[in-house]
Amino acid sequence: MAQANIGNVTSKKYRITCEEETIIAAGEGVLSSPPPGLISSDAIVIHEPVDQVAEAAKHLASSIEEAGFRVLGLRSCGGESCKSIEWIVDTWRWLAQANASRATTVFILGGGALLDAAGFAAATFMRGLPTVLVPTTTLSAFDAAVGGKTAVNLEGKNVVGAFHNPRAVLVEPRLLASLPERPFKSGFAEAVKHSLLSGWSDMKFLESVIGGALARSPESLSQLALWSLGFKMSIVVKDPREGGLRRILNLGHTIGHVVEAASRYSLTHGEAVAAGLIAELMLAEEETRLDSSVTRWTANTIDSIGLPRSPPEKVIPSILANARRLLLLDKKRVGETIVMPLLREPGDVVLARVSIGRILSLIEVAWG
Ligand SMILES: NC(=O)c1ccc[n+]([C@@H]2O[C@H](COP(=O)([O-])OP(=O)(O)OC[C@H]3O[C@@H](n4cnc5c(N)ncnc54)[C@H](O)[C@@H]3O)[C@@H](O)[C@H]2O)c1
Repeated sequence: MAQANIGNVTSKKYRITCEEETIIAAGEGVLSSPPPGLISSDAIVIHEPVDQVAEAAKHLASSIEEAGFRVLGLRSCGGESCKSIEWIVDTWRWLAQANASRATTVFILGGGALLDAAGFAAATFMRGLPTVLVPTTTLSAFDAAVGGKTAVNLEGKNVVGAFHNPRAVLVEPRLLASLPERPFKSGFAEAVKHSLLSGWSDMKFLESVIGGALARSPESLSQLALWSLGFKMSIVVKDPREGGLRRILNLGHTIGHVVEAASRYSLTHGEAVAAGLIAELMLAEEETRLDSSVTRWTANTIDSIGLPRSPPEKVIPSILANARRLLLLDKKRVGETIVMPLLREPGDVVLARVSIGRILSLIEVAWG
């Protein structure tokens, strides 16, 4: 993995397979000086319909043209409604009408939903156009922008999708500034998860930057994004198609998904994962003898972000009533068990088969 610094921008390159590599670059001005070689012929820009992001998309399109390439078109969409097969069909038609070819680079400026949807359109059009992702939410800047998962919803969440790794992920921290407080905080839960999977030294690093990042300092946000996406990439390069090791990234998500779905998505993904992380660390204290100081550190960190360490009272009856049904729907289920990551200590995680009954009794004890 090679690192380079130009002005405020730091970039790192990760090799995934012999044909695929991803550059991660973060810092103020990253869109004015994107790493060279990302465009070979022409480009398409797809962006959030939010003023600040739309402005950045136009600015990016001008820089691409100034560099001597053509921009075939700009298109916007935002939020979960983009993740529909109807939007994908419209986008495929639009790409065809714009004369996009295999040599067209698709720049996507968006949150996790638009990156998933437009990433899927790019992954499938002419069997795959190269993408450059510009995450505009903390969730995407700390997590979703790397790993290559693209998808749309059909009957359920992320049912139709493809693996398609971006050529580059460019994090412009100023684009995160227009996020309202709740979604802004939400993405930090994934950074906490990454630090626990990585070990004490990265937990200390997180402690050192989190205050500045929560205060929206561009420098701290860039450092946090570069580290958090980089940690995820270090796992992804060892298991690009989620055959084994990569499943450790589900830490906090087995119970987190139960909480999120039982709240009927009134809780954000990060709020549900924060509560899920604490519950799964409590489970690990019993199953793998995890030291309780790790759970305390996580609870304090979650408090300092302003995320909930347990679900709100009003959601608990629905969690208790629906947990079994929701756990049976978990993709990681094998019979009456779920293969889930449990921490033994920071940086040391096992994939354990835990019975659904055991998870239900933990939920009952923790929140019942
Ligand atoms: N591919 C992956 O690995 C992966 C991982 C985690 C989550 N996801 C997916 O990510 C999605 C959630 O992503 P999210 O939390 O980023 O939310 P989101 O993409 O749904 O965005 C939330 C809202 O914020 C708006 N928005 C985006 N950027 C903004 C900005 N800079 N300023 C103001 N508003 C802005 C969007 O238009 C939308 O209305 C889910 O669909 C989930 O399935 C994917």
